[in-house]
Amino acid sequence: MDNSKIKRYTVTAALPYTNGPVHIGHLAGVYLPADTYVRYLRSNKRDVKFVCGSDENGVPITLKAKKEGVTPQVIVDKYHKIIGDSFRELGISFDIYHRTSSLMHHQTASDFFETLYNKGVFTEEVTEQYYDEKAQTFLADRYITGTCPKCGNENAYGDQCENCGSTLNATDLINPKSTLSGEPPVRKETKNWFLPLDKYEDRLRTYIDGHKEWKPNVFGQCQSWLNAGLQPRAMTRDLDWGIKVPVKGADGKVLYVWFDAPIGYISATKALFEYARLDVWNPMAEEYYINQNEMEKGNWEEYWKDEETKLVHFIGKDNIVFHCIIFPAMLMAHGGYILAENVPANEFLNLEGQKISTSKNWAVWLNEYLIEFKDKQDVLRYVLTATAPETKDNDFTWKDFQARNNNELVAVLGNFVNRVVVLTHKYFGGKVPMCMGITPEDQLVIDELAAYPAKVSASLENYRFREALTEVMNVARLGNKYLADTEPWKVIKTDEDRVRTILNISLQICATLEILIEPFLPFTADKLMKMLNYGGHLWESAGKINLLHRGHQLNEPVLLFEKIEDEEVQAQIDKLNQSKVDNIAASAVVNPAKENIDFDQFSAVDIRVATIIAAEKVEKTKKLLKLTLDTGIDQRTVVSGIAEYYKPEEIVGQQVSLIVNLAPREIKGIVSQGMILMSENSEGKLAFVAPVAKHNNGSVIR
Ligand code: 2FM
Ligand code: ZN
Repeated sequence: MDNSKIKRYTVTAALPYTNGPVHIGHLAGVYLPADTYVRYLRSNKRDVKFVCGSDENGVPITLKAKKEGVTPQVIVDKYHKIIGDSFRELGISFDIYHRTSSLMHHQTASDFFETLYNKGVFTEEVTEQYYDEKAQTFLADRYITGTCPKCGNENAYGDQCENCGSTLNATDLINPKSTLSGEPPVRKETKNWFLPLDKYEDRLRTYIDGHKEWKPNVFGQCQSWLNAGLQPRAMTRDLDWGIKVPVKGADGKVLYVWFDAPIGYISATKALFEYARLDVWNPMAEEYYINQNEMEKGNWEEYWKDEETKLVHFIGKDNIVFHCIIFPAMLMAHGGYILAENVPANEFLNLEGQKISTSKNWAVWLNEYLIEFKDKQDVLRYVLTATAPETKDNDFTWKDFQARNNNELVAVLGNFVNRVVVLTHKYFGGKVPMCMGITPEDQLVIDELAAYPAKVSASLENYRFREALTEVMNVARLGNKYLADTEPWKVIKTDEDRVRTILNISLQICATLEILIEPFLPFTADKLMKMLNYGGHLWESAGKINLLHRGHQLNEPVLLFEKIEDEEVQAQIDKLNQSKVDNIAASAVVNPAKENIDFDQFSAVDIRVATIIAAEKVEKTKKLLKLTLDTGIDQRTVVSGIAEYYKPEEIVGQQVSLIVNLAPREIKGIVSQGMILMSENSEGKLAFVAPVAKHNNGSVIR
């Protein structure tokens, strides 16, 4: 989209699930780049609406409620407030932080579904879905786990595998298990409404092919989806928490959370305008914060339906298919909406070399950080932007956090500003001195300074936030070098006028820094603005040398950043190590015994001694081995998930216990005839269960 054609921007940030607080991975992946981009647009006087809110429907919420023994409403209310508060404290400048349990959202999503239904977009299909007989409920999405058919990950969810990123249907899983009862589910027929993605394939291809400028990871994922051929996808679920399906014959069904969540962007924008107009806004009931200045200007439809609006979705890489394929297909089916111009999805951030994990408490939680590092919001903003996983997964470490604070924020940015303001106070009573004549050396610095804003803009316009931040820090480096080269503290003894010029130019660099750091470090920009005692400037002024006029009175110097001591980061490392200890203790808990079975049920299982006579890895999987076994009865093939614990060449000749009468099943295209018994310890490690003395193959185990 040609920049000159853009009248306004709609910027969305993925709606976080309200099943826990947000952590640094969410911030680095989504919210900080989005906020930086929006602040930059605002500084450029662009008309932008920045919308987000809590994703309060779907299985992640009901699972958390079950775990805590409370209702889903209690969970969403609790985390909506925690998340909303911590975003605001970190300076994430949404125009509105809405929520999908609001009436506005229920109505908007319901109307959207109804429009598609009335247009005959959906196909109604009765299919077999998994059902938990014990819990008497259908098992959608995260209610079911099993082995991913694509990568062999044994903990894939019914809708998605977090290991390989595949989007799945619950019925694709191998060895499915209910997360409610832990039991294998049964199949039961149920009616659902499907969005025939296949019918939108050509239009989606044209749309995606028209965006070769997208990040390679995003463009590539879309291409592989399209090349694999799109399938119809159910847009309703048999659940009792969510938005009721607004058509006849849909009792007990709600909208699929990935149908309603992206509509949440639309309902949030609507709320931004409508609540103010209707004067019915109840902040606690409907949404957590709204930027009052933005209300009542314009109309929500301009931000979603006008071709001159640029729509940008900030998301993490696990959300690509939903934002680049499914949501666009929904918007196409509805008609009248614009599609995203860009979806700058990031990769994942790891923590101290390990994947961030909510369940293992391996995370830095934003709400805790804000308490433990009071007034250090910008340090986190800085470090997470400087290490953002823009093109590949990246690692956050507390040592790096400390080093970047001490060696970059304190030593480069803080030190430069402090020296300039302190010297101005010392020599000139805190008044901006006059520029007394520019030397060629000064001119070089002035020219270099003038070139920076365009460089930073180019990086930001192309979603390269790390690069943009490096350029901003280079402005402070330029300032430090200028001071080191000109040495005003020495020259003052012989040539006061020369020092006037040096400090004037240095102060202009400080003023430009204030403008350029604002999108990244808004709290520091504010402090600097106060120290320079001016109202701040817009982006177009950056790089100029007349921002602070001669005689202008500065305020007293304050330190922009403080050193972070070893003990502070050690405390954080200790906290993480404690999580490790807690996890081991928790996983060492022995599972309770299952319900009693009668002898007949036991003796129906035919377990025999068998010997592995050949073993090889199953291609393109990490965990699976294809084994050939001599069972005494026959020779047969069994696929077993033991590759992480045993090398194929080590186990030929090994005796094992094999269930020989388990119905054959296909795994990765191989028919597996039986199951080898394994013992699994508290850390999830597997070991063979075999007779202690060698027995003939085919010997019965009972
Ligand atoms: O992955 C998630 O956390 C989802 N709650 C993101 C939703 S984004 C949007 F579509 F609302
Ligand atoms: Zn997978």
